[in-house]
Amino acid sequence: MSCKCQMKFSLDEDIVKYAKECTENEYPESYLISVLHKVQNRYGYLSEIHLDEVAHLLQVPTANVYGVATFYHYFKLKPRGKFSISVCLGTACFVKGADSVLDAFKNELGIELGETSSDCIFSLESTRCIGVCAMAPVVTINDRVYSNVVPAQVPAIIHEVKENMQVEA
Ligand code: FES
Repeated sequence: MSCKCQMKFSLDEDIVKYAKECTENEYPESYLISVLHKVQNRYGYLSEIHLDEVAHLLQVPTANVYGVATFYHYFKLKPRGKFSISVCLGTACFVKGADSVLDAFKNELGIELGETSSDCIFSLESTRCIGVCAMAPVVTINDRVYSNVVPAQVPAIIHEVKENMQVEA
């Protein structure tokens, strides 16, 4: 049975509608990941209020929603920057110095892994093998792949991204 309450949601109307439709099915909880994907795709991350609203809409315990949101690496619980920097820490990248590349990004941006810069431009994350080991160490910034990255290149990479951002603005 779908949620019939008159509660005001901060989630966009189409997501509320989708979640309500999910509850018409036999196992509403099985749509939880699908709903969370929609929320994250729309807002860039899963805020506490949105997680609570999803729990309410799907009529599943809030603890279950938080459990799923924190279990999957894909889901982000904090706002992310306009550019998501992801350093591959898979074996091939690691043995070729990915940890030093990661340290260089931390130093350059003044943030730790999982954090977002204070100007909300960059988020720093790590990933496991993305399947291009021949180009290790590899860093992705949004959809762009940087190959054979060495720590000394990091300031120039950051500078380039910021410059391109200003050109596009
Ligand atoms: S280990 Fe980094 S791309 Fe494979």
